[in-house]
Order: sequence, then structure tokens, then C-alpha cells
Amino acid sequence: MARRRSKEKQPSKEDYQLKEKLKIEEGVFDTRTMLRIGKLFSKGVVASMEFIIARGKEADVYLADAGEKLDTDFLALKIFRLENARFQKRIKYIEGDPRFGKVKNTVSEIVGAWCKKEYGNLLVAEAVGVHAPRPYAFNGNVLAMEFIGREGKPSRTMREEKLANPEKTLNAILEDARRLYSGELVHADLSEYNVLMKEGVPYLIDFGQAVHIKHPDAQAYLERDVFNILHYFSKRYGIERDAAEALRSITK
Ligand SMILES: Nc1ncnc2c1ncn2[C@@H]1O[C@H](COP(=O)(O)OP(=O)(O)O)[C@@H](O)[C@H]1O
Ligand SMILES: [Mg+2]
Repeated sequence: MARRRSKEKQPSKEDYQLKEKLKIEEGVFDTRTMLRIGKLFSKGVVASMEFIIARGKEADVYLADAGEKLDTDFLALKIFRLENARFQKRIKYIEGDPRFGKVKNTVSEIVGAWCKKEYGNLLVAEAVGVHAPRPYAFNGNVLAMEFIGREGKPSRTMREEKLANPEKTLNAILEDARRLYSGELVHADLSEYNVLMKEGVPYLIDFGQAVHIKHPDAQAYLERDVFNILHYFSKRYGIERDAAEALRSITK
């Protein structure tokens, strides 16, 4: 956007102050993302940024100090990349879902819809009692949610942990899949990478691609989720469960 270029060369005083407050070096976030974090800052959701928890292909997740509006010390900020062409492939998870209309095929629009969708999916998860991060707010490509961890130390993924009680953990994950289904959602990216272990309890994360059960591929995604989880527990812990039975227990 040529109109903005001259402004960008010389950051405004507000931009400068914001960067100072956010403790982030210049150049880490683009201007739009900065402004959106700034909005969450002025709404009392975010107080300051701490450090990066995970760097992904589509999004980075940061630990942040919670603002005065939240009744917690920390939160996780998931910031989706605006310059990411991979999102073009993801449109099928949005357009087949009856909750969404047609989304324009620009990366920025798809990313915005994706972030909003993850927020909405997390609200459903919360409503039906799934162990998942509580969503606090979103703005454009920035999602603020409950931090899963202790004293600023993020919980590890299930893959990084040797489970003390794998049977119990598997049951808890299947029960959460059942609860999610009762809220008419299928996670659609369930795996040992998208489960965090906090004090022995599995928390499901990464709800961007979760779809409504009326999505034409919802059943196939559910089968894939169940397959991934059962396969992992079989391979790593030697636990064998019948996939058809597990599916029935989720959809009953
Ligand atoms: N709410 C959270 N609390 C703590 N850590 C989180 C949270 N959300 C994500 N993470 C960390 O960030 C990583 C990437 O997040 P995820 O939502 O899975 O994004 P991606 O789409 O990049 O896989 C996770 O594996 C986890 O380590
Ligand atoms: Mg993930």
C-alpha cells in the first residue's frame, strides 16, 4: 500500500511506544499485526509480551502477560502469518462449514476467517466442557487464549511426555472428542502434537481446522482423528482399542 509507505519509514510515536511496551524488536511483526496487538493491549487483554513459545509454519505462539481485564497472570497469543500462501489450501475447512459463507480468496481474508474460526471453535469447546484453552479475544490474525502451562512455563505436547497413565489419558482424549461432537464439532487435526499435558490432564489445542459435523467431510475427519490417536497409543504404549467402538462412543 503506497499510501502507507512514507508513514512506515518513520514510525509514529505511538508505534514506537507500543513496540517498547511489547518488548518486541522492530521488524518482528508487520504493521497490521502490531496494531491488532495494540488493540488487545488497549482493551486490557494483553499487558506485555514475554517470549515466543512455538514458531510454526502458519502461526507463532507467544507467552504474554495478561492485561487488567483478565483474571489471570498469563495468556497465549497465537499470531497467524499474513504472508502465508499455505492458507489457500485450507479454504476447504471453511467453505464446507455451514457456519461460514463464502470467503474471498485473499490470504489476509482467509487468515482472518481462520483465526475467527479457531476462536469460535474454542468457545464451543469451552461450552461443552472440553479441556482446551479458554478463548479470550481475537482481532484479525491475532488470537488471545488461556495459557496452558504453569508459572509461565508452557506445558509439553503429549509427544514430548512419557505418560504416567496412558490408558487414563486415552480415555480422557476420547471423552473430550465425544464432548466436542456433542457440541457439533470435529477437531480434524487431532494428534499427539495437538495435545498438551498439564498436571496429568490432556488439553486439546489447535482448533483452527475443526469443522461442524454437517461439513461434508466431517465423518472422514473424525475417523482420521480417532485413527491418529489410537495409532499413537498403540505404537508408543501398546494399547489396542477397537476403532469402530471408539467412533461409536464419540457419536452415540
Ligand atoms: N494455549 C496455549 N498454551 C500454551 N502453549 C500453547 C498454546 N497454544 C499453542 N501452544 C504451543 O504452541 C504450539 C503451536 O500451537 P498450535 O495451536 O498447535 O499451532 P500450529 O498450527 O502452528 O500447530 C503448540 O504445540 C504448543 O506448544
Ligand atoms: Mg498444532
